[in-house]
Amino acid sequence: MSRLTLATASLLLALSAPAMSAQVSKGEYIAILGDCVACHTTNSEQPLAGGMAFPTPVGDVYSTNITPDKTHGIGAYTLSDFTKAMRDGVAKEGHDLYPAMPYTSYAKMHDADLEALYRYLMDEVEPQAVANRPADIVWPLSMRWPLGMWKWLYHDNSQFEPDSTQSDEWNRGAYLVQGAGHCGTCHTPRGFSMQELALDGKNGNYLKGAELDGWYAGDIRGDLYSQEEMVALLKTGRSDKEAVLGPMAEVITHSSQHFSDDDLNSIVTYVRSLSTTPVTKPTQLAQVSESAKTDYKMYCGTCHGSDGAGRDHIIPALAGNTTVLADNPASLVNILLHGGQTATTKAHIGYNMPAYDWKFNDQQAADLLNYIRASWGNQGAAVSAKNIKAQR
Ligand code: HEC
Ligand code: HEC
Ligand code: HEC
Repeated sequence: MSRLTLATASLLLALSAPAMSAQVSKGEYIAILGDCVACHTTNSEQPLAGGMAFPTPVGDVYSTNITPDKTHGIGAYTLSDFTKAMRDGVAKEGHDLYPAMPYTSYAKMHDADLEALYRYLMDEVEPQAVANRPADIVWPLSMRWPLGMWKWLYHDNSQFEPDSTQSDEWNRGAYLVQGAGHCGTCHTPRGFSMQELALDGKNGNYLKGAELDGWYAGDIRGDLYSQEEMVALLKTGRSDKEAVLGPMAEVITHSSQHFSDDDLNSIVTYVRSLSTTPVTKPTQLAQVSESAKTDYKMYCGTCHGSDGAGRDHIIPALAGNTTVLADNPASLVNILLHGGQTATTKAHIGYNMPAYDWKFNDQQAADLLNYIRASWGNQGAAVSAKNIKAQR
């Protein structure tokens, strides 16, 4: 893409940014907290009509139509059917749902919030006559009974219990993060059976960072960010230092930018209170090479600056940047090879980072990333050509 089309693309994106009416009902706000749109809307003309593919080791499953259409959607669901789907992962017809639907988190939501959400889906959402797509999983793997076993092993359907030793703000944050916000779906590492290794902050694996689709959703426990920085990141997709890309940019665009300031502050208060383990120094630190220094000057310096300081909230700084320094380089490699786009929010239009997969071979790309991980005070772990190859 030329510069011009890039600029036009950002502009179009800005114009198509979801307009949020000043007054949303309680149920609609909960749908925003839960980001139902992220997975249940494939065609913006038919919101919540389902059809998005989710790969599983045995084939794709598709999200379903959750509009109140009586034939294709959930129009025939009673409140108790709906609560059962959200809390127990069971559809009205009785089959178990794949945990691609994050009921492991939604289970924690209070009955009153599920009821408001149900009323919103039934009364405010337009019914769409869009048929559900069956999963592309061949028999006998398509039999859903092993899901019952999976749930028996890993699913806890109990609602959130406040911790009386903590403040109301902390409890509201814990409720939002563990429940509707389902942050752990992406940020908590998974085990052998794809189960999240923890569902609340008492366990050190919770929100400890996990790889997904070539991105690394980092460790967000503890006070890596100041309260203001992390609130800004969730509201605008930017902090003074950095930008958020990929799946998180979508979370921000559709969901967290619309959270109330009180809720954002609660979320950050909770996340910052979680204990951290001391960071171990990487065994092999990234090193600067002369050829990479030249490449940086030629291809990156004009935008990110020869000092890696970025520019005015448009171009992120690379010095001290969490994505640049993350032990797991997945997001970094992804951005260099495929480019990226920041969140489109009321505060900022989305900006693009060009892709460089055509420009650098695996070794050159690794050298370049090692250069930015070892300059301007950065001290990141070494990236190898293998890391790059894995994401071509
Ligand atoms: C991360 C992706 C994801 C998110 C976010 C998500 N869902 Fe789902 N949902 C799915 C998938 C995939 C299925 C289908 C699972 C299956 O068929 O086993 C599903 C199924 C359902 C079902 C069962 C419907 C039926 O046809 O029987 C309901 C109800 C539902 N979702 C409601 C919601 C609501 C309400 C929200 C927002 C609070 C939401 N979902 C958010 C992925 C998601
Ligand atoms: C759909 C998956 C997904 C969900 C859900 C999600 N995140 Fe993220 N998040 C990511 C990814 C991927 C990144 C890394 C983005 C990057 O490298 O620019 C990220 C980055 C972040 C960052 C910046 C730190 C970093 O590691 O780069 C913060 C803070 C954050 N997420 C907080 C949250 C909170 C709080 C929630 C719940 C309200 C949440 N996320 C839900 C995928 C997700
Ligand atoms: C045309 C200007 C431009 C050039 C040239 C450019 N970048 Fe970027 N870069 C951006 C913008 C804008 C962003 C933020 C938006 C985005 O990531 O899509 C960004 C984001 C990034 C990020 C992610 C930062 C974060 O906070 O998550 C990294 C890493 C990065 N660039 C590295 C590089 C490297 C390495 C080069 C040289 C090969 C380069 N950039 C060249 C404009 C540029």
